[in-house]
Amino acid sequence: MNSFEIRKKFLKFFANQDHQIIPSASLIPENDPTVLFTTAGMHPLVPFLMGEKHPAGRRLASIQPCIRTGDIDQVGDNVHHTFFEMLGNWSLGDYFKKEAIEFSFDFLTNKKWLNLDRNKMAVSVFAGDNDAPQDKETKKIWLSLGFPEERIKELTKKNNWWGPAGQTGPCGPDTEMFYWTGTEKAPKEFNPENSKWMEIWNNVFMEYFKNNQGKYKTLTQKNVDTGMGLERTLAVLNNLSDNYQTDVFLPIIKKIEELSGKKYDDYKKEFRIIADHLKAATFIIGDKYEIKPSNSGQGYVIRRLLRSSIRYGKKLGLPDKFLIKLIPKIVEIYGETYSYIKERENYIINIIDHEEEKFEKTLEKGLKEFEKGKNAFILYTTYGFPIELTMEIAKEKGVFIDLEKFNNELKKHQELSRTASVGMFKGGLADSGEKAVCYHTATHLLLAALRQVLGSHVYQRGSNINVERLRFDFSHSNKMTEQQIKEVEEIVNQKIKDNIPIICQEMSLEEAKNKNIMGVFENKYGQRVKIYAIGNFSQEICGGPHAKKTSALGNFKIIKEESSSAGTRRIKAKLL
Ligand code: GLY
Repeated sequence: MNSFEIRKKFLKFFANQDHQIIPSASLIPENDPTVLFTTAGMHPLVPFLMGEKHPAGRRLASIQPCIRTGDIDQVGDNVHHTFFEMLGNWSLGDYFKKEAIEFSFDFLTNKKWLNLDRNKMAVSVFAGDNDAPQDKETKKIWLSLGFPEERIKELTKKNNWWGPAGQTGPCGPDTEMFYWTGTEKAPKEFNPENSKWMEIWNNVFMEYFKNNQGKYKTLTQKNVDTGMGLERTLAVLNNLSDNYQTDVFLPIIKKIEELSGKKYDDYKKEFRIIADHLKAATFIIGDKYEIKPSNSGQGYVIRRLLRSSIRYGKKLGLPDKFLIKLIPKIVEIYGETYSYIKERENYIINIIDHEEEKFEKTLEKGLKEFEKGKNAFILYTTYGFPIELTMEIAKEKGVFIDLEKFNNELKKHQELSRTASVGMFKGGLADSGEKAVCYHTATHLLLAALRQVLGSHVYQRGSNINVERLRFDFSHSNKMTEQQIKEVEEIVNQKIKDNIPIICQEMSLEEAKNKNIMGVFENKYGQRVKIYAIGNFSQEICGGPHAKKTSALGNFKIIKEESSSAGTRRIKAKLL
């Protein structure tokens, strides 16, 4: 079975069960500013899982391209990807556990559909904890379908809970379906630690909401959210232990063999990273938002993916500009399913061509400098080496990179270049630096005040500081009223008057996440993060630097409030 057949079968099966087929959404989340990419098929459906009425009804199915940069370091093994397709079906307050499990089981094992061997299946269910009880009902359902007790494992939240897709949102216990991929007979007992048991489908029973205090509240609407990885399922169906041998990868792999004269079997890791990363970059660039390689946000992810592919290409001895020769293969695989990839082929090639050219120029020089022992920061500023690339090379060569030092230098560099870009120094570098630091602290107060006045949907979307003003973009759709602007100003000025000390604390990223402290979590390098707290009023993950006390800020005044882009407002403010 190939990718076209499995997509078609999946949608047909659920259409037969009265599901409406909905189109896939953009790779850039439209409802969730807390993450950079759409990470699952349910991600675009969050408002509807929360009870908003979906125009297509209460039973939906789709095929959704997803990006998970969190898995980037595992790419190179046989199953992890940054880009993948997810087949999903949803019940928005319609059917629940029994029907969802029966649908999945029927689709997987019925001769008419995937015809997988039920004797090679195993499942896991949620064992229960302080947040939610043990999922006895799900276990009963699997038993009723003839599953032996030994093939059902009860696991904790770490394994059998899914969501939220961002920092807050709907989530719940899940049941995961595994398939035996070993050549020997499937063991009687299911051991989830054995990687020959491949997870292929996940049914999530979304009846909780994780709020920004990290608490789980029950939702009034009980939903089902399922996700089946297309690449893995294809591999299983074709008795392959390697996703890269399926038809969504093979044409790219063959082309790399042709261009390099090397065999995939001898250089699996390099082939896999190039194929995966280039696919992800192609889809992000081809998305309707037309994001280009850059030094921040989604653009930085594109740059990192492309630069990493180029470096692995060099290892294979691939010629300059090999990436663009692979794009037609990606279009061949996906152009029919995702027509925009075909329509934008030339545009994508142009962007990648430009980025390849730019990086080729500095790569060789940069690698030489690395050999000479130049530090990560110089490689970043002078040679455009993403820090992750430097880390990768360092790991291979057994060299230690001091990430904290890198981050500190980067912060200093950013403050200074912001300050320098104004071009007009009022009183020496030190003074200007201090002013910029005060503006930085003011953005934290502003964000907390905006959330207090407008609501907890407000997140930072962008920030730019110089010695004359701050500019702050945030998620909010409507123009702020005079009254709201006044309230925000008053709150910030009151906090300045209260002369609150700004306290910096370090903790692990995990701990910060659990405390629901704001900050962009994706692509944070290093395990420990700094949290800046202004009393109980504001807490953010941030590299600093900040004023010591709020009284240093002076008088806060909003100069302008305007639209920045759809769903994003922009404030310009001064400290007088
Ligand atoms: N949303 C379900 C999953 O990603 O597995």
